[in-house]
This record gives sequence, C-alpha cells and structure tokens, in this order.
Amino acid sequence: MPFDQAPDRRAGDSTKWNRWAGRDVIPLWVADLDFPAPPAVQAALRARVEHGVFGYPDPPPALAGACAAMLARHGAPCAPEWITWLPSLVVGLNLCCRAFAGPGHRVITTTPIYPPFLTAPVNQGAECVRVPMVERAGRWEHDLERLRAELAAGCSCVLLCLPHNPLGRCFGLDELRALAAVLADSQAVIVSDEAWADLVLEPGHRHLPFAVAAPELAARIVTLVSPAKAFNLPGLRLGAAICPDREVGRRLRSAGQGLIELNAFGMHAAVAAWDGGCQPWLEELRAHLRANRDLACARLGRLSRLGVQVPEATALVWIDCRGLGVADPERFFVDAGVGLMPGSWFGAPGFLRMNLGCTTALLDQALGRMERAVLGLT
Ligand SMILES: Cc1ncc(COP(=O)(O)O)c(C=O)c1O
Repeated sequence: MPFDQAPDRRAGDSTKWNRWAGRDVIPLWVADLDFPAPPAVQAALRARVEHGVFGYPDPPPALAGACAAMLARHGAPCAPEWITWLPSLVVGLNLCCRAFAGPGHRVITTTPIYPPFLTAPVNQGAECVRVPMVERAGRWEHDLERLRAELAAGCSCVLLCLPHNPLGRCFGLDELRALAAVLADSQAVIVSDEAWADLVLEPGHRHLPFAVAAPELAARIVTLVSPAKAFNLPGLRLGAAICPDREVGRRLRSAGQGLIELNAFGMHAAVAAWDGGCQPWLEELRAHLRANRDLACARLGRLSRLGVQVPEATALVWIDCRGLGVADPERFFVDAGVGLMPGSWFGAPGFLRMNLGCTTALLDQALGRMERAVLGLT
C-alpha cells in the first residue's frame, strides 16, 4: 500500500508542514498530499533531469494529447488549439478576471469557495459578488434564485468550482442543467475550475465537466484543468485553460501576454500523469482518501458540537464549528495540536476545512486530538 507511509516533510520546502514548524501541530490545511507522485511521473522527471539541458521549453508534443485523454475520460472533447497552458490555476483565475472582467465589472462566485476565487476579481480591479451556497436537506446547493438576480444586475464573468472546494460536492446532471438554464440568460463568460475532476470518491458518482453538461454554453465556457490535485504536483506548476471558442481563447492569451512562462518539469510530469498509465495509482489513491473520509466523517459526526457532510469528491472535509461556542475555531484546534484552514478565508467564518491527504495513522492521531479538545469543552 503506497499510502500507508509518507516521507518526512518537516524542515523542508513544504508550505503545509512549515506553517507550524517547531510546534506539535499536525498540519491538515493547504490542499496537497503527503505522498510522493506516481512512479511513472517520477520516472519522467528523472529522465528529463538526466537529459541535463534546461533551455527554454516548448510544450512536449505529447502534452496536448495527454490533456485530451484526461478530458476524454470525463466525456469532454478537447482540440489542441483550444488549450492555453498556464503555470497554475490561480494564475488562470486571475487571467480570466483580467481578460473577461477588470475594473468596473462584476464577477460572481459562490461561497464558501477556494480563497483565490474571492481575491482574483479584486486583484484585477473587478467587484467580487458572493452568492452563498444553500444547505437543503443536508446537501449544499447553488442558490439559483439569488444567482439569477445577481446575473440580472450585471455580470461579466462567473467563477464555478466543479467538484466543489471546500464543500466536496460532485454536482449531478440535473443540478448542472438547472445552473446552465440560469446562466443562459446572461452573456457572462463562465469559468469552470475543474481542478478536482479526478478525485471523485463516492461510488456511483462521476465528474461532469460543465461544458459537457451545458454544451449550448460551451462557446463561453473556460474550463480550468490541472494534474496538481490528483497527482500531487502543485510544486511543479502546470495547468491549462480549455476554450473551445477562438475569440475567448485569444482574449485569455492576450491578457497573459508577457506573464505566462512555463516550466519544463511541470509539462513532462503532466504528460506522464495524464496519459493513462497512472490510472491504477489514482484508483488506489481514491480508495485511500475514501477510507480517510469515512473515518473522519464518522468520528467528527459523533461530536454533536460539529457538523459535517460526507464529501462526494476532493480530499477535503468542511466542518461546521459554529456549535463549538469559541471565538476562533482555527486557534482552538491549533492549541489542541491540529492545524486546519479557517472558513473566513473561504468567505464563511465559523467553519474549518480539513485536508485528508495524509496517512490514516496521522489522521487518526489528529482526530483523537480534536475529539479530546471538543469533549473537554464545558
Ligand atoms: C478549485 C481549485 N482551483 C485551483 C487550485 C490551485 O491550483 P494551482 O496550484 O494550479 O494554482 C486549487 C488548489 O487547491 C483548487 O482547489
């Protein structure tokens, strides 16, 4: 089992592990995995290092095909000329807000949401309009009425997250069709960040790219994809924006003039990650994350002061801490020895996000600390 053990990441270059360096705090915050990349990815990188020449790189000839193969596994078409390579999806979100919105424009997103969705519009001088997700019958859903009203008030760009970080929702066809019907009434460019596409955990569920669920809107959909989440490659910096419409792609590339430079290692790693050979590794990773998810949700769910929904996708659990009655839930759990990500960063104070990308032994230890802290409250 490759996921029973993890290399020691302390005292290195890990953002996740350096945050509370020198303190006995188990870091379960930023979304990377504690595990090495798949062996085929490591082999591709070793071969590139052994080549020894690190001049200016073009995308390797196999990269577009590997990206298309990944999208085809999710039922989505992808022609090579639709692809704009990016150094990361955070760059992609910012470029989209620059290309399709900018000063004086409104960008709509839903909250809670991965923090760069909230900062990217503002970085580019646009207004970020937040439409809170709603919890209905124990399930987080888009608030279509509110979305419709905000679209009617004017909107240049909508930022969607499928599967959803931090809620872990893998939206079904009916939900996406209803969302598409609301979006059809506007002219906004729709950015669908599908960074977590390969990490659907719930049996019977599958990722549906928005461009597949809403083909009638495909000309104004930009799909963001990346091997970073599923294959644990965020340090190598590679993503892609898929724009079936030539003019949308041109506007995106024009906004990125002089700003987008690519790294050879990220591109070679992506070929190996996406071309199909890593699928058995990915299947094992999903089984591991599913087991961690079930453990975390069962144990946290027994604590009446906390609220959790079982995520269908991602490696994340969104924890409702409003019942704890503490002013700062992040601080409360850090003091107990567990580092989680504050909901305020996602536009939802009172919640925390837990990252399950670690060994089950470490997760078990962290859950024990959390249980003791919560049960110790009077
Ligand atoms: C939805 C989503 N988009 C983008 C990113 C970041 O991607 P990148 O590391 O390529 O900037 C993340 C990271 O967790 C994410 O969850």
